[in-house]
Amino acid sequence: MANVVVVGAQWGDEGKGKIVDWLSDRADVVVRFQGGHNAGHTLVVDGVTYKLSLLPSGVVRGKLSIIGNGVVVDPHALISEIERLKGQGVDITPDTLKVADNATLILSLHGELDALREGSNEGTRIGTTKRGIGPAYEDKVGRRAIRLRDLANLSTLRPKIERLLSHHNALRRGFGLPEFTVDAIYDELASAAPKVLPYLDATWEILDERRRAGDRILFEGAQGALLDVDHGTYPFVTSSNTVAGQAATGSGLGPKAVGYVLGIAKAYTTRVGEGPFPTELTDEVGRRLGERGHEFGTVTGRPRRCGWLDAVALRQTARTSGIDGIALTKLDVLDGLPEIRVCVGYELDGKRISRLPASQGAQARIEPIYETVEGWSGTTAGARSWAQLPAQAIKFVRRIEELIECPIALVSTSPERADTILVADPFED
Ligand code: GDP
Ligand code: IMO
Ligand code: MG
Repeated sequence: MANVVVVGAQWGDEGKGKIVDWLSDRADVVVRFQGGHNAGHTLVVDGVTYKLSLLPSGVVRGKLSIIGNGVVVDPHALISEIERLKGQGVDITPDTLKVADNATLILSLHGELDALREGSNEGTRIGTTKRGIGPAYEDKVGRRAIRLRDLANLSTLRPKIERLLSHHNALRRGFGLPEFTVDAIYDELASAAPKVLPYLDATWEILDERRRAGDRILFEGAQGALLDVDHGTYPFVTSSNTVAGQAATGSGLGPKAVGYVLGIAKAYTTRVGEGPFPTELTDEVGRRLGERGHEFGTVTGRPRRCGWLDAVALRQTARTSGIDGIALTKLDVLDGLPEIRVCVGYELDGKRISRLPASQGAQARIEPIYETVEGWSGTTAGARSWAQLPAQAIKFVRRIEELIECPIALVSTSPERADTILVADPFED
């Protein structure tokens, strides 16, 4: 019996929320280990939609939900998300939700800086969610961040804020903006403290105890492997490691606690924000994928760029995350297409290559080499077993397995929790 890590295997929005919710029926604890409220995970249960950004998707089933130390936490965003979910009837208490006391805080100054940088230069724009994710991680590794535990001891907060502001006010002066005062930041933090403190705990210890007791832990990744700060399409990435290896570091468990790695991939590809996207379609087919797949960002509402499945990039992320099996989502979006293309190689400066090059220039220049497969006339939408899939759809899934050199463990055929085909149970692997 393995603990399972769920990671995005493309550029995010692969359907991680749906799959984590589906799998969390089999889990005892669900833990987020990186990212922050840049994530937008959507679950649909009996027609009711839940949108989660910071809260682990297990909260909807009432599972013990943990926000690990690797997450950057905006305390005001956390409070409002808890209130919003409670308003939808989800029971969230300090018994069901625990937040790592050593997690790093996102302050309003981080969001402001993020937006400022994004707005100031079109040429270097990343297309971030402007949630302050990058600036908060910068402060964490710069060793000047304020952490959740610091809210428990407000009398010691002012010197920490001064340290932080010595950096940020220098930047502000550079931008020609007024400086922040210690009082303003203090008030922002002090007002959040009473509402978040009840949830704080040494979550690494809780996870370790649960693991020893034989409980099943489900690690919920955010973003996707191609947005990983090391392995993604740098610099058009997020500011954390999104690959499966981060599950251990970002939750405070050793690498052996992670058993099975489930990568989530759409049957096609999407990306929000700037950066290379070799199989992007700007034609009618791309628009059709976007419409049928309702490809609009959960967090920012931006239309997602759409394109064919990139089996080369997916084979690579299966390796950088050590993926044991793939959950293939949104197969239904391909229903009715007469033919479907899959990228099986790239052409770079007249030569065929079989991996995503590391250089930014080469990533922008590569051209996809496609294999064309026949579409299917029947429908896959809502299918819950192999038997309900058209023969050609099964052939497509099998061909993807060959191309990415990784088995498909689950297939998803609609946003609804129950519209899922189980091929191999990750927890029983
Ligand atoms: P996440 O960030 O990886 O959790 O994915 P998002 O929730 O941002 O985006 C995935 C979108 O696709 C959501 O609106 C889901 O409800 C929806 N979705 C998930 N699986 C399927 C599926 O198999 N078919 C269809 N049509 N929609 C799906
Ligand atoms: P989920 O968990 C898709 C993208 C942004 C931008 C880049 C950097 O829902 O899959 P950031 O705000 O993190 O500094 O932005 O990363 N991005 C996502 N794209 N899904 C996400 O999360 C994303 N989180 C960040 O669009 O290109
Ligand atoms: Mg999303």
